[in-house]
Amino acid sequence: MISDETVDRVREAADIVQIIGEHVPLRRTGTDFRGPCPFHQGTHKNFSVSPRKGIYYCFVCHEGGDVFTFLQKRLGMDWPGAVRYVAEKVGIPVEEVQRRREGPDPRQPFWDLNAAVADWFRITLWDEDEGRAARDYLALRRVSRDVADRFGLGFAPRDPEALRSHFAALGYDDTRMLDAGLLVQRDEGGDPRARFRNRLMFPILDAAGNAVGFGGRLLGPGEPKYLNSAESPVFSKARLLYGLHMAKHAIRRDDRVMLVEGYFDVVRLVSAGFDWVVAPLGTALTEQQAALLRRYGKTVFLLYDSDRAGLKATFRSGDELLRHGMSVQVVTLPDGEDPDSFVDKHGGAALAAPLGDALDVFERKVQLLERAGWFADLRHKRRALDRLFPTIRATQDAITRDMYVARVSTASGVSRDVLERELAARPARESAPGDQARDATGPSNTRPPRGPSRRPPARRPTAPLERRLVWVLIHAPVLRDVVGEQVGADDLTDERYGKMLAALVASGPDGTAQQVADQLPDDMRPLFQELLEEPPGEGFDASREAEGCVTRIRVAPIERRLREIQREVPIAPDDDAKNALIREKEQLRDERAALGGGRMKSFDLGR
Ligand code: GTP
Ligand code: MN
Repeated sequence: MISDETVDRVREAADIVQIIGEHVPLRRTGTDFRGPCPFHQGTHKNFSVSPRKGIYYCFVCHEGGDVFTFLQKRLGMDWPGAVRYVAEKVGIPVEEVQRRREGPDPRQPFWDLNAAVADWFRITLWDEDEGRAARDYLALRRVSRDVADRFGLGFAPRDPEALRSHFAALGYDDTRMLDAGLLVQRDEGGDPRARFRNRLMFPILDAAGNAVGFGGRLLGPGEPKYLNSAESPVFSKARLLYGLHMAKHAIRRDDRVMLVEGYFDVVRLVSAGFDWVVAPLGTALTEQQAALLRRYGKTVFLLYDSDRAGLKATFRSGDELLRHGMSVQVVTLPDGEDPDSFVDKHGGAALAAPLGDALDVFERKVQLLERAGWFADLRHKRRALDRLFPTIRATQDAITRDMYVARVSTASGVSRDVLERELAARPARESAPGDQARDATGPSNTRPPRGPSRRPPARRPTAPLERRLVWVLIHAPVLRDVVGEQVGADDLTDERYGKMLAALVASGPDGTAQQVADQLPDDMRPLFQELLEEPPGEGFDASREAEGCVTRIRVAPIERRLREIQREVPIAPDDDAKNALIREKEQLRDERAALGGGRMKSFDLGR
């Protein structure tokens, strides 16, 4: 068997015009191609091939289908043969999925168990006294019985033994319940207990409608607010989407899907009549989830919270979806609202406005950067571009990519040629996976960049040096004055060490640890204590250590700026700007040489 996903990918990648064109003379007419029908041996051009839709059709004999059907009917290939033939042409490897073996699917017992447990949770919610708090909670959140039942909501009782004893009586053994992640073994020898206790339960189904696990929400405050089933042979939260089972037909029909953050958002939207909504299970959208969605539709509307975290998630998910060839629209809700609260407050009809105002994810990114002044000068422009490039690189669709490049060109005033060159020259640091993630978060950090300060925001490569310097000054008080002349709290990127440095310098060579500690905010005392208790080792050369730290701390921003300049030069709007950068570069090199060159005499005082 060949997986559906592979078949879809092969079909999409296939050049149907080229393949059919090997057997039928085709000529372009508009967006389609026409030729004589090979099936009824027509002589007129009644046979049409649509590369956009990936299908062929004869207006006379009504023969039609996709590229695989053509090869089957015309060349007598069998279906897997046709798929393999095309796959080879487009270079997609075809792995045979193991043929469904005789007998039931080995996952069936897990599905059955989960379904039975979901049912028991549901009955507990509605028919037991115990369920009252959860019923009240649903009423409070205005979820009707009807809606709750559509999702099979339930309640997991407080008693940690209840699930096990109920299901043991029905013949389910511990092993299966443990493997399904419904029971947990707390300690060796003890009885396994229920994983979910005193929670409102959302059964989770896979796309085929099998019960694979649960999400459970606490009714009151506490941690964690939501708990998922443990990973199991049937439950992998990175591969599931809540609501997909219900939404898949609507998504296919309209070729679009709404992606929201949580269970309640799905429940609320579905109950308001939006049947094309799904959510990940509390994680950022994964690659597998993006691939899964792509099988059902092409356009995604992202409805995440409007706060910073929500924006960050929006742009991350956006890049992942673009990588899978999807078109991504961002819906912006009023501040502080999620789709659930918005629809609860204003009704489903009100969602039409934000949906109508949805912006393409890239446009939204550019808009946020523009509003925060990121295109105002060269320096910030370069950083803005660095935030936009990963999204452009992620974009699979050629036309969309072209539009994005055009859009940045307009926003930044940098020509498309230069942008293309910069896009091609993947900067080294972007290849680091950690950096990628940070870049992909894009302009969620839309604080306008700091003004004239030389120090770029946020990155803290010098933090270990700063820690070291503070530690030296704690243990070698005699150096406090001289170091204080060389660096100030502002030169440190980590605010905590900045504060300690200031306190140490202010206390002077005679200041006791206590005097220093007294100047620090309470929450920094433990860190100070930690440094205090790290003893200097044998042969501790305080002067040398301090000097090394100071030099490197002072040189670091210069080097950062030098690296930036290197990247700003190619996008400089004119020769004047370019020359200014080159002059700045020379100056910085001089400064660096002055700092790094030779020992700083004054430090020898400490010896
Ligand atoms: P409500 O507060 O019930 O409205 O939830 P929400 O759907 O608004 O949730 P929130 O925005 O806090 O979180 C969105 C999603 O993240 C949830 O639906 C969960 O899937 C997940 N989530 C939230 N908190 C936790 C947590 O503490 N642990 C885990 N594993 N997932 C969580
Ligand atoms: Mn919510």
